[in-house]
Amino acid sequence: MTEESTPEIKIGEATVKVAHPSILNVLKKREHVKQQLSKVKHRIGVWSAKGGVGKTTVSINLAYTLMRMGYKVGILDADIDCPNVCMFLGITDRQDGNFPLKPAEKDGIRIISTAMYVDDTKRPIMWRGPLIAKMVSDFLENSDWGELDYLIIDIAPGTSDEPLSIMQLLDIDGFILVTGPQHIASANTIKSGLMAKRMSVHIVGVVENMSNGSMKGAEEVADALDCKLLGKINYSKKFDEMSDSGKVPVEYDTEIKEEFISIAKKLIE
Ligand SMILES: Nc1ncnc2c1ncn2[C@@H]1O[C@H](COP(=O)(O)OP(=O)(O)OP(=O)(O)O)[C@@H](O)[C@H]1O
Ligand SMILES: [Mg+2]
Repeated sequence: MTEESTPEIKIGEATVKVAHPSILNVLKKREHVKQQLSKVKHRIGVWSAKGGVGKTTVSINLAYTLMRMGYKVGILDADIDCPNVCMFLGITDRQDGNFPLKPAEKDGIRIISTAMYVDDTKRPIMWRGPLIAKMVSDFLENSDWGELDYLIIDIAPGTSDEPLSIMQLLDIDGFILVTGPQHIASANTIKSGLMAKRMSVHIVGVVENMSNGSMKGAEEVADALDCKLLGKINYSKKFDEMSDSGKVPVEYDTEIKEEFISIAKKLIE
């Protein structure tokens, strides 16, 4: 490609020369997503490369906390092949796949998830990377969220398909990283933070979930990434019992609610 034939694209105020047509495509999509989400004030990812540390739990409880504080909130379930948000919230609605995609609503919170577009949520979704990326881009480019103060994005574990697509396409305000107390959890959560830094995405801070009072997973993450410790949520059987029955812990337990209010206040700051 010669210097003269290099395509240019306007991103915000800047005009950028593009070295390869595929990159041009990504940049165009990114601009489109920006326009599509222009009525969404803040976009916050909840993420860890480590599975099972409580990303979905933190996403949902944070969303409810912000909603109770008076904000309009949406949750994008960006765990495409193992979507859990609807299961946690007891949502069984199915949506047609016509664009624009319409969120389901529970307690005033708008939710979009792959679980709404499969005929049987008990069956495994077995998709290769390109289909995962397509679904993420459909959710970002073709969903009608309306006006929102906060879009909370519950991101799949790992450092590949979903997080990479989200970071490429979405102008994300920042990530809340979730870790467990164990070194194995923090070591993997640090990897997510390093990927975020590499992709120039801000890290709001780290939440330690299922804390046991003695281990220092969150401190390890905060030190390695030079980010804030937003809070620690203790291991409590109540989480298991409530989430299995479609209840959101912050709605029923004062101690858990106070911890999430403190985390939400740090996010809002
Ligand atoms: N503080 C807690 N105390 C006890 N159980 C918890 C706590 N937080 C989450 N759990 C439980 O741990 C399990 C895993 O949580 P969750 O699904 O939120 O993790 P995840 O990081 O989203 O997992 P995945 O990587 O599969 O997406 C759930 O059954 C949840 O109810
Ligand atoms: Mg999850």
